Amino acid sequence: MKHIDIKDVMTNAELIGKEVTVCGWVRTSRDSKTMAFAELNDGTTFKHIQIVINKTEFEQGDALPEFLRLGVALCVTGTVVPSAVNKEGGVEINATEIELLGDCPSDYPLQKKRHTLEFLRTMPHIRLRSNTFNAVFHVRSVLAAAIHEYFQKNGYVYVNTPLITGSDAEGAGEMFQVTTQPFGAEANYDNADDYYADDFFGQKAGLSVSGQLEGEMAAMAFGKIYTFGPSFRAEKSNTQRHVAEFWHVEPEVAFAELPDVLEIAEDMMKYVIKAAMERCPTELEFFNKFMEKGLLDKLNNVVNSDFEVLDYTKAIEILEKADADFKFPVSWGMDLQTEHERYITEQVFQKPVFVINYPKDIKSFYMKQNPDGKTVAAADLLVPGVGEIIGGSEREADYDKLVAAMHERNMDMSAYGDYLDLRKYGSVPHGGYGLGFERLVMYVTGVANIRDVILFPRTVGNIR
Ligand code: 4AD
Repeated sequence: MKHIDIKDVMTNAELIGKEVTVCGWVRTSRDSKTMAFAELNDGTTFKHIQIVINKTEFEQGDALPEFLRLGVALCVTGTVVPSAVNKEGGVEINATEIELLGDCPSDYPLQKKRHTLEFLRTMPHIRLRSNTFNAVFHVRSVLAAAIHEYFQKNGYVYVNTPLITGSDAEGAGEMFQVTTQPFGAEANYDNADDYYADDFFGQKAGLSVSGQLEGEMAAMAFGKIYTFGPSFRAEKSNTQRHVAEFWHVEPEVAFAELPDVLEIAEDMMKYVIKAAMERCPTELEFFNKFMEKGLLDKLNNVVNSDFEVLDYTKAIEILEKADADFKFPVSWGMDLQTEHERYITEQVFQKPVFVINYPKDIKSFYMKQNPDGKTVAAADLLVPGVGEIIGGSEREADYDKLVAAMHERNMDMSAYGDYLDLRKYGSVPHGGYGLGFERLVMYVTGVANIRDVILFPRTVGNIR
């Protein structure tokens, strides 16, 4: 259809005085004796453009406001003029022709008043048309592009790791099973081995929780790689920061030790946050006003200061001394809970904090074992408001140590033969991390619930 984006009309001063055609949905409208006004939005910008209609100049005349119901889709031709009412400047369109593209009955669920995010969650297909979601998804898109830019500029190879896999990368037993065996087929088999042998892949298969293991293989060939794709976790945690299907950014780098991993993660975070600040100023101002007061100061502070690096053991000492009423008691060896992570990053440091060198028993088998025999070279990045946003580590490059760690965890070695080969053929120090993309979007927008930064959230009991 011949038309131009409303965003272009609003930002291109050369169009003033010219005739344009725009398409969009009516967001609000007003009617008076001879004039009618409609705010039109086409999704290209968070702002609406005002359409000014002189009813006496239209054949339909008084019937026109019927066209202007909330949610109706229109195509409007008219002249771009400076806004008559908006003191901050801007433009509006004096309509000369209006075409109704799609009517919208008055039971349209997005009425003009402010709706809560909880209410909007009940209609995931419609909520995308609200201002908040327009802003969230513009920022999300810019962040995704900035992530690719960052790694491409720095010489990383973008690889796509398989989504269906035979091995659990995290060893945490949170894989969704992939099968073509019909319901109830187990009853036809005496044992599980035969059952899986008859399945599509001739063995157990599941949806990948992380592309890291395959990423390591690619890094041993291409040096620096990153993935950016979905990961799946059958975690039954019904929290504000867990979904069953999330987008995962996983760089993996050869010839790198833990401090290198931290440096890359910090550099990448600053790059993508800066990109969002430069490219989405209107959206971030909106979030600063309505979602998280002080968001812009927080983001500015992140870009301009160094992230804290804190040893796990030191973190436990801080938490033990904390004047706070934690639900989960603190002791060395425990995994940090959200309340602890948030205390450290929000109360103590008020900025992003890498917690490093965790006890080996609470971390994955592949992490480099530290000389103390108790900890591994892991790093989680904790940020205010969200908690853990990145999990990474230097990897165990020594064959024997890796095998020992896998035996300690009673892992099925047969699924990891290829992975072990990496430690056999030219093993080198290497490491990487995983960034939960939705958690990044939450952090940058101040949106508190992960369900509101992804189009159709998949969570326990919900696959709408
Ligand atoms: O800490 P995780 O489990 O680490 C890994 O998967 C490693 N293989 C990464 C690597 O070293 N290449 O997950 C990494 C990040 C978390 O910090 C979190 O941001 C996100 O992935 N994440 C989730 N995001 C949303 N919903 C879930 N259920 C998530 N599980 C992990």
